[in-house]
Amino acid sequence: MGIINSKEEFAGRIKRVLVTEEEIRQAVKETGKEISDSYDGRPILLVSILKGAFVFMADLCREINVPCEIGFMCAKSYYNGTVSSGAVKITMDLEQDISKYHVIIVEDIIDTGRTLSDVVKLLKARNPISLKVITLLDKPARRKVDFKADKALFTIPDYFVIGYGLDCGEYYRNLPYIAEYDEKGE
Ligand code: IMP
Ligand code: MG
Repeated sequence: MGIINSKEEFAGRIKRVLVTEEEIRQAVKETGKEISDSYDGRPILLVSILKGAFVFMADLCREINVPCEIGFMCAKSYYNGTVSSGAVKITMDLEQDISKYHVIIVEDIIDTGRTLSDVVKLLKARNPISLKVITLLDKPARRKVDFKADKALFTIPDYFVIGYGLDCGEYYRNLPYIAEYDEKGE
């Protein structure tokens, strides 16, 4: 996947919409309400895995109406294009001492499961009050390690998807919906 130089090329690689803006909005709203209703009032720390989860995080945190902080980690597994490199690297870590928080990891997509199983191990070792994983999308067909999120808003087939924070070669994060990426458009 190289540089996209035209609007036509950009549009040509969007194959079809899989999850609409409205479907996302509804599911994010319900998830925010569930979180607000199910914690005991001690502070929640939403931990977003950059970059892919930044849009989901921004929308989800605004549907939560209880004490809540946000934190960011950067874990990279896909360096470019659509094939997993199989290596997870933490390139940015949290600032907070998480032992004082209910931690909720906010992820964009679980694919092989490698990124999150590593991140969960790392954070559990820091003794948070509790730890949960919420992912916008789940692709269970591609799992390489045994990993299950506490909540997945949408379960999708084995397509490479773009939009709502998810990229292909750093493009398409700005689409407001989730779409299937057209590899033939390359
Ligand atoms: P995993 O470690 O294989 O579960 O991969 C997790 C990461 O790979 C996600 O956080 C995404 O950044 C990226 N990823 C996996 N599948 C897709 C996809 O279909 N589109 C865009 N990024 C993806
Ligand atoms: Mg990601």
